[in-house]
Amino acid sequence: MCGIVGYIGKQVAIPILVNGLKKLEYRGYDSAGVAVLDHGKIVVSKSVGKLVALDEELGADYSQSYIGIGHTRWATHGRPSHVNAHPHHDCNQDFAVVHNGIIENYLELKDALIEKGHNFVSETDTEVLAHLLEDCYDGDLEGAVRKVLATIRGSYAMVVLSCKGPDKLVAARKDSPMVVGLGDEEFFVASDITAILNYTRKVYILDDGEMVVITGEGVNVTDFQGTPRAKEVYDVKWDAVAAEKGGYEHFMLKEINEQPHALQATMLGRLKNEKVVLEEVDLTLEQLAQINKVYIVACGTAWHAGLVGKTLIERWAHLPVEVDIASEFRYRSPLIDEHTLVVVISQSGETADTLAALREAKNRGARVVAVTNVVGSTVSREAHDVIFTWAGPEIAVASTKAYTTQLEGMVLLGLYLAQVKGTLPSEKIGEIITALKKIPAQAQEILDQESLIKELAKSFVDVEDAFFIGRSLDWAVAMEGSLKMKEISYIHAEAYAAGELKHGTLALITENTPVIALATQRDVYDKTISNVKEVKARDARVIGLTYKGNTSLAKSVDHVIYIPETMDELAPILTVIPLQLLSYYVSVARGCDVDKPRNLAKSVTVE
Ligand code: AGP
Repeated sequence: MCGIVGYIGKQVAIPILVNGLKKLEYRGYDSAGVAVLDHGKIVVSKSVGKLVALDEELGADYSQSYIGIGHTRWATHGRPSHVNAHPHHDCNQDFAVVHNGIIENYLELKDALIEKGHNFVSETDTEVLAHLLEDCYDGDLEGAVRKVLATIRGSYAMVVLSCKGPDKLVAARKDSPMVVGLGDEEFFVASDITAILNYTRKVYILDDGEMVVITGEGVNVTDFQGTPRAKEVYDVKWDAVAAEKGGYEHFMLKEINEQPHALQATMLGRLKNEKVVLEEVDLTLEQLAQINKVYIVACGTAWHAGLVGKTLIERWAHLPVEVDIASEFRYRSPLIDEHTLVVVISQSGETADTLAALREAKNRGARVVAVTNVVGSTVSREAHDVIFTWAGPEIAVASTKAYTTQLEGMVLLGLYLAQVKGTLPSEKIGEIITALKKIPAQAQEILDQESLIKELAKSFVDVEDAFFIGRSLDWAVAMEGSLKMKEISYIHAEAYAAGELKHGTLALITENTPVIALATQRDVYDKTISNVKEVKARDARVIGLTYKGNTSLAKSVDHVIYIPETMDELAPILTVIPLQLLSYYVSVARGCDVDKPRNLAKSVTVE
């Protein structure tokens, strides 16, 4: 997820662009750049690292141009570097582009353009847009943009600056956000309102499939075919800080609600013709044939994702899997060698324990695959292969969208291994992929029932202890739900394999003890109900969680949260969402610091 900004008007552009990018730094900050039109020429300045480096790069005698575009990057295709930083331009520097999203068919377009003699300098998908503009331009800038939009596939919010249209910016969006700011004889375009709130509170919120031409005189919104679109002016009431949270009270709630988009983005370009395609993983058949064991190593929430990964890889790829807490892994002399695949999961890609485990695994000859959310992170650079989650920056300490996209990474890896090893028939793989494609919309369906969970949360305000129980994959998610509750509401929550309660923990269940019982896994459903009845017999207050349409659970519990029906193997991606919302609203009700809970840090870079 990157931040883009554009300006045209009566003020010098660069200070407005840089200030706007600083407000968007939460969307990504591994590199940044601006491009302005100065005396008929495009002038580009870029820097690596945080925005302060761009300030230094620009210095004091920057261009006094009144028109320009800017970008702060969260790398997806192409590691963080000066050459990969946006804006990108064509061979003759007649067109400059900033872009947020993923151009899914960029490789085939890039090959075709190279065939035509275009010279590329970066590893990014975005640079293709600039060369496509050069290739399509025949005297009409808007027309060239429309031709490009008809050629590309994927998600994008893009802004074009060109010396071929010196008095205008052209922008377009599909699946990535974009707003247009309406000032007094000056206009702005940006990824979101945060970037322009200092200059105007009047905006157009662009919709998917809309293109806009912005001049110093005004804004013209059309669809991609040029048909005018009427837009209502939206008067922004938020303050700047609220705007960074997209209008949500906390980053955590914003990130919980970003999960449908994050899940969609993470599968983009990886499901082709009913098969999983992992371009970043170049495990050959021969190498895979050598693998006879898998370890999944991580910490905290990432470790909980690994618990789910174990079941999926064993069930689909028929490989034995051990899941290790990273801080334990290297001190137990793990039995790994060149026949072992080690999967390290880390949102930040900088967790010291996980990094140490990765290095230990490599020292022992294992093949290491990383699942991480940060391009250019240490874990991503030191692993042999990487599966990036495209969740965008996760600011809240409590991990939410990173976890669900890590689960998606486990599904993709499990299917990939099964494909290569031939352990799943193609019909089964197709069935799983069909179910996976429905998950983003199903996640949204759960988010739409937020008010029910907010109501349930009120009954936890004075709770001191809570239990999360489940069997099989429900138990793995119960572990994550328990951690969410602990780390942001400070309630002492414990997760237990439901069948294990009677071996001790049941002694703690008394009248009104809250128990959240996950009951989605069909093969152990009846056993789970028996465990629910065990706690009900001790007068516990039970909140059940199961598939919509299953009316039996309601007979055994006090409340039921329903999730859309899916395959049991994919259920964890959905069942965790109500638990995230529950812990969030309990934390708010108890007056805790949701985004920055006590004693914790977002990335634990010390052992
Ligand atoms: C999750 O809510 C926690 N903040 C924490 O457990 C986190 O998952 C853990 O520290 C691992 O971080 P990583 O994914 O960045 O390696």
